[in-house]
Amino acid sequence: MKGPLKGWPKDLVDLDQLTEAQITTILDTALSLKEVSEREIKKVPVLRGKLVVLFFHENSTRTRLSFEIAAKRLSADTLALSSSGSSMSKGESLLDTARNILAMMPDALVIRHGAAGVPLFLGDRLPIPVLNAGDGAHAHPTQALLDLLTLREAKGSIRGLKVAIVGDIAHSRVARSDMTGLVKMGAEVRVAGPPSMLAPALAEEYGVEVFTRVEPALEGADAVIMLRIQLERQQGRLFPGAREYARVYGLDPVKAGLLAPGAVILHPGPVNQGVEMSPEIYESPQSLILGQVTNGVAVRMALLCLMVDPPEHLGSSRA
Ligand code: CP
Repeated sequence: MKGPLKGWPKDLVDLDQLTEAQITTILDTALSLKEVSEREIKKVPVLRGKLVVLFFHENSTRTRLSFEIAAKRLSADTLALSSSGSSMSKGESLLDTARNILAMMPDALVIRHGAAGVPLFLGDRLPIPVLNAGDGAHAHPTQALLDLLTLREAKGSIRGLKVAIVGDIAHSRVARSDMTGLVKMGAEVRVAGPPSMLAPALAEEYGVEVFTRVEPALEGADAVIMLRIQLERQQGRLFPGAREYARVYGLDPVKAGLLAPGAVILHPGPVNQGVEMSPEIYESPQSLILGQVTNGVAVRMALLCLMVDPPEHLGSSRA
């Protein structure tokens, strides 16, 4: 095993570990790898002979599939494990499970878990790169990277962009990683949601502007990221009902009219259709939601390359 690049973390837990230059390298690498998915033969031999384990302890469609596709497009072997099909259902601990996986000589572990802190816990105990595919309400760094790539592609640069993030900020790992990444890359970030969905000290902690009404957050914004209502992470009801939420906070053509000309609309998925946004908005040319999914494969290819077996020109600076 080669070890991480000089100055890079061994594991990806969240974007606060990365510098602006390192994030730019990931986005540039993703952009250069994106065309592999457009070829007739969608494969390059970059990670031939490597094994990537995908351990998803919580449901996922986009992240799990795109990590698997990314690894396969780089010619790595993949091994997928979920909690229900593993011996954790017989009482084996997470760490014992991870040690047993390690005994089969994988080159990287991708983990999604409902508990915040699990990727950090495993990364500190395993010698291979551990990549966070979402941990509780803590972080979702690969989603934030694909959002950054999508915004950079659409708007040319992230520095100076006005980006609104709307919805369930308090329960959203995507919001936390997006705020960290966007502010680091020089965007001006506004967050908006019902008071019951805004965590205290967001402005101080992340350097964002906080609104309890959506309209001032959307006014003149170059992009808006609509968040999914995290019904599974809420203790009790945080708003009267889906219809009420859609009316007050959901994005419809009237509210979208407040955005800057040429503004783009993102959503990490899965979308609660008709709640976070109206069907016209989901289908509109401003909506980049499926483009985000395409970019998810490219970003995860880039991360696997950079963290498992970086290209020679970057590898030469290895610690
Ligand atoms: N955006 C996202 O994390 O989607 P999945 O839960 O389907 O992976």
